[in-house]
Amino acid sequence: MQIIQAKDELREQLREWRNADEHIALVPTMGNLHSGHASLVELARQHAERVIVSVYVNPTQFGEGEDFDEYPRTLERDTRRLKTVSADALFVPADDVIYPFGHDSATIVSVPGLTENFCGATRPGHFDGVTTVVARLFAMMQPDVAVFGQKDYQQQLVIRYMCQDLGLPIAIVTADTVRDDDGLAKSSRNQYLDDEQRRVAPRLYETLREAAESLRSGGRDYEAMEARAIRTLEAAGFDVDYFAIRRAEDLAVPDRDGDDLVVLAAATLGRARLIDNVLLTV
Ligand code: PAF
Repeated sequence: MQIIQAKDELREQLREWRNADEHIALVPTMGNLHSGHASLVELARQHAERVIVSVYVNPTQFGEGEDFDEYPRTLERDTRRLKTVSADALFVPADDVIYPFGHDSATIVSVPGLTENFCGATRPGHFDGVTTVVARLFAMMQPDVAVFGQKDYQQQLVIRYMCQDLGLPIAIVTADTVRDDDGLAKSSRNQYLDDEQRRVAPRLYETLREAAESLRSGGRDYEAMEARAIRTLEAAGFDVDYFAIRRAEDLAVPDRDGDDLVVLAAATLGRARLIDNVLLTV
């Protein structure tokens, strides 16, 4: 597996693959790779002959007081892990490769609407940071395909919107969430949980599944179901950002049966902000 840091080197490698008529899939990450990321790489491999993984802890998507400084940076371990899956290259750009004029003078890519609620409301500016860095990676690499995890449901919707709106010919593929045996979604932030919090954390997914089950059994009083779920999570020790039942395609409030729905939540336990969701059709 090739490790690439410079833009020229990246361009050269991409050119070689394209000249050989090979499709390119990008898996953007912030490193600290776990089996969830490995599944993104495996899915990417099903869509393209070449898979490139980027590792960049993007400062512009962290708000003030968030965990940018302490975000786990584990490049050596990540490199070893990627060698065991089928990645062809690892792109590890320095700050000035991504933001040549610095973060404060960067061109911002901002998606309206979809970014206003949920994680966008509790983390103002977060999605601008995400779309700004992803647009830069897309511009640098022009991949045929890019793979994102379903755990960050709102993020993958925002990126799909950005690609459609900017006319980027990149297929966005969403990979199923990978979970521990007790249901907790894999996340780099799980390592902030102490033993007791780790024991409680799967309650988030359980509560999402309970809400999905009520919907499947005909429940339609969304507000009451959301309020009940929030009470359950608070009683378990979570500080809940949001728990919502929405239309899967655009996060609007569902208004008729037959829609694909997403039940999505974000809640903090100690220092760990956990997000998760369940998809269903009613
Ligand atoms: O999901 C993530 O890890 C990040 O938000 C992403 C897409 C790599 C952008 O920094």
